Amino acid sequence: MSLLARLTASGDPAGDEIALSVDDVSKTFRVHQERANSLKQFVATGGRNRYEEFYALRDVSLRVRVGEALGIIGHNGSGKSTLLKCMAQILRPNAGSITVNKRMAALLELGAGFHPELSGRDNVFLNAAILGMARREIEARFDEIVEFSGLEQFIDSPVKTYSSGMYVRLAFAVAINVDPELLLIDEILAVGDVTFQQRCMEKFVDLRNQNRTLVLVTHDTGNVRHFCDRAIWIDHGRVRAEGKPGDVIDEYTETMLGTGRRAEGEPARRGSGEIWVDRVEILVDGEPVDRVRNGSTVTFRLHFDTSKPIEGPVFALRLQTLGGPMVTAPSSRDNGAMPAMVTGRGTVDVVVDDLPLLAGPHVVHTEVTGWGRMHTYDHLQEAARFDVLAGTTDETSGVVTLRPRWDVAGDSVVDLRDL
Ligand SMILES: Nc1ncnc2c1ncn2[C@@H]1O[C@H](COP(=O)(O)OP(=O)(O)OP(=O)(O)O)[C@@H](O)[C@H]1O
Ligand SMILES: [Mg+2]
Repeated sequence: MSLLARLTASGDPAGDEIALSVDDVSKTFRVHQERANSLKQFVATGGRNRYEEFYALRDVSLRVRVGEALGIIGHNGSGKSTLLKCMAQILRPNAGSITVNKRMAALLELGAGFHPELSGRDNVFLNAAILGMARREIEARFDEIVEFSGLEQFIDSPVKTYSSGMYVRLAFAVAINVDPELLLIDEILAVGDVTFQQRCMEKFVDLRNQNRTLVLVTHDTGNVRHFCDRAIWIDHGRVRAEGKPGDVIDEYTETMLGTGRRAEGEPARRGSGEIWVDRVEILVDGEPVDRVRNGSTVTFRLHFDTSKPIEGPVFALRLQTLGGPMVTAPSSRDNGAMPAMVTGRGTVDVVVDDLPLLAGPHVVHTEVTGWGRMHTYDHLQEAARFDVLAGTTDETSGVVTLRPRWDVAGDSVVDLRDL
């Protein structure tokens, strides 16, 4: 917190010079029709129109000023990652233009830019080269990069064997060390552990002190409030609000809590579709429920189907508080469940003992990816909703309980319970 405080105290260092500008950008995707209705739709459309065009971004214009930290917020699927990918020039907009005036590095979705079969070492060279560093420079910085990542032991293993956190550490270490003037970051730091997040924060402070520019996409509105000079709210692919972080976040939070739901008709599913999650059931004592108690044993049952045999699929869950932060995003790979091949229909049970979530509405999203987590077979947004009810803790602040034990010591401490 002290780092954040120092940052905020430094005031708004941004000048008028423009680091990056986005002008009237639109981006469309072709989206899959819902599988669950495929037969009905197939008949209704005579087998045509299995895709439709969908606007992920529509007429977006914004400026990023040199020296500012800009926070981008918005609901899941609102277009934030798409916007960052357009800024990073990984995606080409269908209309409009993007002008980048500074040396840029981007930390986008997990593993983006990494080659799964190559070692960490080779990926460092590949990535740094893509970010515009000469081989000699990379060699000179290599040790520093590896040290920052903390992956000395694993640097010669193929990155497909890395956990999500390890991916991020390496990607961040590279991005930071190419000495970017403009750094784009999409969410991903949340997968790093606490020490790593702390080191990233320190790096952000360094960058800010050097008048570097940061664009940060995150669901952690607290971070945006404390860290950013300005915030932009993206809503259904458009800029909905822009201004002081506190104001934008308040407006966003009120709207999210008020409606709490994506607009009808928005695609809930994306991916290449050879394997897909039909639905998610939430079970307690073997019975489907939509309410669970803190402290109970809960099973999230993913029902999947396939159109062909799938090798080494990775299943992932994202648990989110409704309209709020992501709480956890375990994957079968990180947790050591590694089916070599699946075919036909089946189920995946994710069993959580002693549910640590605090009371409130929650949503579950699911994802099925390839082993390297880079190919998305299926991403189902809001696969299920459920309410957590108060249970074995009296805590109400935050999103989880860590079930802490407390001990108050002193010369004459008398416990209330002993009176
Ligand atoms: N490659 C793609 N093909 C088809 N649709 C896509 C693709 N990438 C994104 N989309 C769709 O575009 C919309 C915006 O997605 P995007 O990933 O930009 O959202 P986001 O704001 O980053 O969401 P989140 O908060 O969940 O990260 C979503 O509806 C998504 O399904
Ligand atoms: Mg995103």
